[in-house]
Amino acid sequence: MCGIVAYVGPRDAYPILMKGLHRLEYRGYDSAGICLLNHDIRVFKCKGKVSDLEEYLVGKDISGTIGMAHTRWATHGEPNQINAHPHFSQNKKVAIIHNGIIENYSVLRSELKKRGFHFTSETDTEVLVHLIEDIMTNEKVPVEEAVRIALNQVVGAYAIVILAKDYPDKIIAARKGSPMVIGIGKDEFFVASDATPLVEYTDNVVYMNDEEIAIIERKAKLKIKTIRNKDHTPYIQKLVMSLNEIEKGGFDHFMLKEIYEQPRSIRDSMRGRLHIDQGIVTLGGIQNYEQKLINAKRIIITACGTSWHAGLVGGYLIEDLARIPVEVEYSSEFRYRNPVISEEDVILAISQSGETADTLAAIELGKAKGATVLGICNVVGSSIARATHGGVYTHAGPEIGVASTKAFTAQVAVLTLLSLLLAEKKGTIPKSQFQKILLALNAIPEKVDRILKMSEKIRDIANIYKDVKNSIYLGRGYNFPVALEGALKLKEISYIHAEGYPAAEMKHGPIALIDEHMPVVFIATRRGIYNKVISNIEEVKARKGKIIAIVTEGDETVKKLADHYIEIPDTEEILVPLLATIPLQLLSYYIAVMRGCNVDQPRNLAKSVTVE
Ligand code: AGP
Ligand code: GLU
Repeated sequence: MCGIVAYVGPRDAYPILMKGLHRLEYRGYDSAGICLLNHDIRVFKCKGKVSDLEEYLVGKDISGTIGMAHTRWATHGEPNQINAHPHFSQNKKVAIIHNGIIENYSVLRSELKKRGFHFTSETDTEVLVHLIEDIMTNEKVPVEEAVRIALNQVVGAYAIVILAKDYPDKIIAARKGSPMVIGIGKDEFFVASDATPLVEYTDNVVYMNDEEIAIIERKAKLKIKTIRNKDHTPYIQKLVMSLNEIEKGGFDHFMLKEIYEQPRSIRDSMRGRLHIDQGIVTLGGIQNYEQKLINAKRIIITACGTSWHAGLVGGYLIEDLARIPVEVEYSSEFRYRNPVISEEDVILAISQSGETADTLAAIELGKAKGATVLGICNVVGSSIARATHGGVYTHAGPEIGVASTKAFTAQVAVLTLLSLLLAEKKGTIPKSQFQKILLALNAIPEKVDRILKMSEKIRDIANIYKDVKNSIYLGRGYNFPVALEGALKLKEISYIHAEGYPAAEMKHGPIALIDEHMPVVFIATRRGIYNKVISNIEEVKARKGKIIAIVTEGDETVKKLADHYIEIPDTEEILVPLLATIPLQLLSYYIAVMRGCNVDQPRNLAKSVTVE
């Protein structure tokens, strides 16, 4: 996701745009740019933060009462000056800023190349502005009509703003899948990704809907139409949120906002990769290494913390589906234990930040020993993304909360796609099973949405256990890493000691801890070795342990045994981690809030551990 802001009215656009970018910088911060329009159209952009752009603009012509600006969170193309937005059309008469992912950009790009277009950036966005120019030139239509025609050829998510030299009083904005809000002043208009840049100028806002185009003209009424050319009456609402609330999207903390973003972030992690209609999976970033992976003697997954838990799920998935031996290593141990690594090994480094020192060091060790090293990162152009031979971005968007939530489920979604891709190529699972899992995976974002609607019930449970001193999280099979992740979430934001264990392992020691004060969280979904988990629950009950169970919707058996239960929708066994983790994220969040902890910046923690 990124930050978009635009203005047209009687005032100088520059100060409004730059202040707006600062307000939106939490949405993405790897490069920034501005486009200003009066007698000519000017684009200035640079790598780095908004303050770097301000420095870069000293001495430049920043005049103009109409303009737009963008702070980027890269998805396609390194964070650098060339890939920064705005992007110009070839004739330099049209400029675009974009938030989202154009899935079919490579098809459109090769089409446009055949028509003589040359590309300067590696972004998906640049394709759209060249397509708009192509349509304006060939169909001889005004800019808003060219945008409409172009958007009918685009597959993917977008919130875009277009400025055109020949239309110095007009802003064209459109959205599908990414947010866009219009602020309506007395004789001025504002456009932005969210209301933070507007709040000090107006409280009259129009939240655009998907597939709508806004034609915003100085001294004219706001016009809205759909990409199918149907007029819509703008629905003007009153903006009631404070600035601070808006930055967090109305949530009390970034962590809660990011938990609730998961239907979108999981969808984005699969966008352009899970092709339901063709029944295939593609992962462009590792295309050149598919054979290496398929023929790998062993895959070594190396990561830290939550990313290591995602790696554990990945290890289960790849062995289960693709039958390739997998070892999952803590990067900090792997780098120092003098491991045996051969050229036939493939190392998979997983990291949200892409800057974790131990994981970076593990990558260098693997490369030094001749292994192929791939990355799964959330930050485009991060050190780990650049240090690996290839990789897959998770596209979860910036994760501000120190406790990782949406990055975890995006990592697991990408690892699921990877294991399916390898299994399909190796023929280790029947086609029918492959198709069944694809459909089930496609249904995950909607099921996550359903779980999020149970937050009240989860909050009530949190209120009962907010003062405990210890807890144990238990799961089996695919749910064992979920138990570890749930325990880590509770530990790191509420400071309650929690341990995750394989459910059967409890008998080998931890059961000694069980008494009536000890809450035991069971991930007891009806898939996998479910009956054995039931026995484990019985064992805890016999010792008066308090049982909180994550159960499959309608499972009366576990519901009867548990002191509290949270029902989640059923899905394929291998996909349960994507669902079972959600209630555990919320449980730890509510307990931490009730304990007055600093949820977004827990004590002693940093978002990215760039030191050993
Ligand atoms: C997770 O909630 C923690 N903040 C931490 O364990 C984190 O997962 C770990 O430091 C790894 O970070 P990375 O994914 O950015 O490499
Ligand atoms: N996909 C576009 C890019 O990578 C936009 C990314 C964003 O939403 O910031 O430049």
